[in-house]
Amino acid sequence: MSTDASFRFLPLPTEIHFGCGILGALPERLQSLGCRRPILVTDQGMRAAGAAEKVERLLAGAGMSFTTYDEVTADSGTGVIGDATARAKEFGADSVVGLGGGSSLDSSKAVAAMITNPGTILDYTGIDKLRQKPVPVVAIPTASGTGSEVTYWSVFLDDRNKLKVAAGGVLLFPAVALCDPEMTLTLPPAATAATGMDALGHAVECYVNDACQPISAALALKAIELIGLHLRSAVLNGRRIDARYGMLLASTMAGIAMNSTRLGLAHALAMPLGSYELRIPHGLAIGITLPLVMKFNHAARFQRYIEVARALGESVDRLPAAEAAMRSCVAVERLGRDIGIPERLGDVGLREEHIEPVAAEAIKSGNVAVNPRRATVEDLKTILREAL
Ligand SMILES: [Fe+2]
Repeated sequence: MSTDASFRFLPLPTEIHFGCGILGALPERLQSLGCRRPILVTDQGMRAAGAAEKVERLLAGAGMSFTTYDEVTADSGTGVIGDATARAKEFGADSVVGLGGGSSLDSSKAVAAMITNPGTILDYTGIDKLRQKPVPVVAIPTASGTGSEVTYWSVFLDDRNKLKVAAGGVLLFPAVALCDPEMTLTLPPAATAATGMDALGHAVECYVNDACQPISAALALKAIELIGLHLRSAVLNGRRIDARYGMLLASTMAGIAMNSTRLGLAHALAMPLGSYELRIPHGLAIGITLPLVMKFNHAARFQRYIEVARALGESVDRLPAAEAAMRSCVAVERLGRDIGIPERLGDVGLREEHIEPVAAEAIKSGNVAVNPRRATVEDLKTILREAL
């Protein structure tokens, strides 16, 4: 980067508490925020795994009054957010504890916003639309993927047209992220694989895009290295706490990095791929499209892609630049194959007739504008056809 380049890095207002067993600090963290009546927002998976009960026991043990909404669904939706907000208001909640993967954490941020703002969450899609400060959110991730515990985005489904949309802005940062690797130990292999590829997508798309600056770049590159070291072990031997620790650290670092940069074509495509009747899980959409997007982009940023290859453990020093950069795409493809990510979008429901509407929606994304290579709607269709 030349010395006349200026850049912006968004400060993170979220207090991050990271470590094995850090979940135990939840009551203390809530009390330090002045919160006495939280609503726990989570899903049935967390209920079945015993994680919801663990959090409820901690709150009860500290003598706190709380209520629980445990009906969050995949990618939730405006109905879920409305129901949980009604429950929160009826109870008089002064804070939200979000527990789970991206859907539960994104829902908890939306609920916190709707406790203090009028209307519905659909009135606040886009960036910086909230008028009132939400109640504080304590986010407890149980997957290493979205980084939602440290980002200012809440992604959800518009129930009217089944389109995935997002509300964002500095008021949507959680107050506290409680990142406890032990809480990710029981995530099943397929979900570990998909969410891990999402974290890799955040790190790679952030690192190579036009908005990246040295601070995000350092975080993103370290995240790529950690994912290369730990994702296979986390999937193949989920009880390995070192692998879970490394993956949670990676997803948190990538989440911080991307707040200031946005992402790229894989994330532009993943929003419509997760919409309509398709509903392709976000991590799978990213895992399948990322190597293809990297192939499309790599010539626009050789050096960055060479660094990605190196961070993933590829020997590139003696290779011509083009070949060295291509090694990053091959490494991501191989990683996906090793952890059981399906190879084709056709395997997860995409059909030829979906390509036109998905590309037409994806091209509107803000992530297209920062992608390192200019892309047209035709380019997006080509990538989708290659992935079909
Ligand atoms: Fe993502």
